[in-house]
Formats: sequence, C-alpha cells, structure tokens
Amino acid sequence: MSLTPTPADRFSFGLWTIGYNGADPFGGPTREPLDVVRGVEKLAELGAYGLTFHDDDLFAFGSTDAERQTQIDRLKGALSDTGIVVPMVTTNLFSAPVFKDGGFTSNDRAVRRFALRKVLRNIDLAAELGAKTFVMWGGREGAEYDAAKDIQAALERYREAVNLLGDYVTDKGYDIRFAIEPKPNEPRGDILLPTLGHAIAFIETLERPELVGVNPEVGHEQMAGLNFTAGIAQALYQGKLFHIDLNGQRGIKYDQDLVFGHGDLQNAFSLVDLLEHGGVHGGPAYDGPRHFDYKPSRTEDDNGVWESAAANMRMYLLLKERAQAFRADPEVQAALEAARVAELSTPTLGEGETYDALLADRSAYEDFDAAEYFHGKGFGFVRLQQLAVEHLMGARG
Ligand code: GCO
Ligand code: MN
Ligand code: MN
Repeated sequence: MSLTPTPADRFSFGLWTIGYNGADPFGGPTREPLDVVRGVEKLAELGAYGLTFHDDDLFAFGSTDAERQTQIDRLKGALSDTGIVVPMVTTNLFSAPVFKDGGFTSNDRAVRRFALRKVLRNIDLAAELGAKTFVMWGGREGAEYDAAKDIQAALERYREAVNLLGDYVTDKGYDIRFAIEPKPNEPRGDILLPTLGHAIAFIETLERPELVGVNPEVGHEQMAGLNFTAGIAQALYQGKLFHIDLNGQRGIKYDQDLVFGHGDLQNAFSLVDLLEHGGVHGGPAYDGPRHFDYKPSRTEDDNGVWESAAANMRMYLLLKERAQAFRADPEVQAALEAARVAELSTPTLGEGETYDALLADRSAYEDFDAAEYFHGKGFGFVRLQQLAVEHLMGARG
C-alpha cells in the first residue's frame, strides 16, 4: 500500500485550516493570510483531491458583489488548473459581530432572517461549484446563561431554518444534502445539538430528514468525553454519516484541532478501521471525503503549514495500512472468533420465534447455567486489544 496520497484517497481540507493564521484569544496572527489560489495549488501538489470553505474564507464578510465574484472566479480558475474539486461548502454564521448570539437561533429575529439569506446565497454558490454536501456548524447557536435562551424555542427556530433550506434545494433541484456538525461548547458556553446523539434525534423531527445528516468531528465528540468511533458507528447505523471532520484531540479541554492521529491515536486507529473495514460485507463503511478540519499550530511557519497538512494524510494512510494488517492477521481473526464478535450479528431470537416460544425454551432459562460465568467463559477482549495495539505500533508485520 502506498503512503503517498493521491486524489483516489479523497482527502480534502478546509480553506480555513491551511489558511489559519495563528491568531487566538491571547495573541495575534503568526502567519500571513493564505491566498486561495496558492492553497489550491499546494493541496494539489500534496495529493489532496478537495477544498472546502466558508463563504467568508473566500471573500471577506461585507465584500461587494464585484469583490465576491473576483474571488469566485479566481477559485474556479485554480480548480480547473489543478483538478481539485469542492465537495463541501459551509457558511460562516459565527465570526461577524452580528452573529454573537447565533444565526438561526439568535434571539434577534432580524439576525435570523439575515442569517438565512446569507446561507441561501451560499447554497447557490455551493450548487454552482458542484458541492454535494452543505455543512452547518452552529458554533454560536447556544448560550452561556440558562435564563438567556429558551432552548425549546431555539430548537424550533433551528428546525424552521433547516426545513426552509430543505425546501430551497428541493425546489431548485440542487443535488445537495445537509450535514449538521455537533460540538458541545466553544465559542458558546453551551452549544445547541452538542453531540451526535442530539443531532441525530433532532434530524428525525425535520420535514425532510432524508436530506439531513451529520458531519461529526473527532475532537468535538472527545471534548464531550465520548468515544468518536462508537459515535461514527451509530451515525453509520442510522444512515446519517454524510461527511466527517478528522483531526486530533487529547482529552476533555478546548478544541485542539491537532493533526489527525496526533491526539487519541487508538481512537484514530479504530476509526480508520471502521471507515475502511466496517461495511456490511467487511469493505469500506463510508465512501465520502476524508476531510481534515485541523489547525496548523501557532508555532509553525509557512513550511510547517504544509508539513502538517501532509501529516494528516500520511497519518490516515498509515492507520489504514495498520488496520489492513490487523484484519489480515490470523491471530487477530482467532482472537475475534474467541471474543465472539461476529456472534453479535446473530439475532437473539430464532427466525419467527415468539415470546411464547422463548418462554417455552428451557435451555434459555431453567437449564441455562449462569453460574458457569463465574471464574470461566471470559471473552478475551484484552488479548484482542493487545493485538490491536501491537499492530498500531507496527510490532506485528
Ligand atoms: C470549529 C468547527 C468548524 C467547522 C466549520 C465547518 O470547531 O470551529 O469544527 O471548523 O467545522 O465551521 O462548518
Ligand atoms: Mn472544531
Ligand atoms: Mn469541524
């Protein structure tokens, strides 16, 4: 397996990731702004296939129509020169002061109407560029103080907004689906739809749930203390994994946006294993872009930006290679068998078996020896985990 990324690997990057200038709440930028044309060229050179962006990444908030168009034309030129595509577009409803209390769910109705107009305009651009996914990260949709936000009303306004967007793409005939990106907090003290579970439950209340899925981010679930791989498995199970944000996070703290695999490496390994081998017949479980939403650290210069972009792709390919070796190892297969992992796919009841039949089955209860499970019948999960970690470390072929 090659560790050199190619467009067939479907790696994509946000313009705001490679374009991050290093500014944070404690200090100013440490790098020059990145021009979009250079960004596209560098990504093509490194073997990526896609660029994603917020409207404001491409043309500053408040740009005139002419300024906006110039930037769109420059992007289009770079795309056709390099073959880079735009698989996903998203809207910035968080940077400008007007959005300090959110976009879709600001208490201020005029702001909500402005936000919807900004998004509708950006959906037109997404369709023009051929993007199939439209991400909605509601970083400012939330509150710091319980009395300041009527959460039920806010969810109703969120619903109203997403329903409207669904009507819009349907009426326009756009081949676009939406992906909600959960995050527990930051910049708001508490953000609406804080985890994958909240988002998936919300989606079921929409008028066109089939148009809406999730865009989970590694670090966001981990900020909530959750297992990202397990969350992704549920998103897949519910048919809702429309897009993914890969990065690295170490524990429950601020959103670190490290390079993929530079945080919880074991969780990154099990994630790649799931994405690449978790399909119903053992093949890939997800065929969308492998999208990186990381930030080149503030300590890096321009060279470090591209080193870190390349590191994301290399980490993914290394983990894919390790996961392949893990799956192919006969000892792992024996350990999986001993751990009865595949047995979980067998339904608990026999075909057509009713509760009457279950109640009549003495082997299930009266003759079942539950005592055998004391001091016996271990599953060997630790052995399986040891093999996984050894593969991850490259300690086994
Ligand atoms: C964050 C988010 C954003 C979103 C982006 C796309 O924590 O800042 O991850 O980077 O992914 O706004 O919608
Ligand atoms: Mn993030
Ligand atoms: Mn993200």
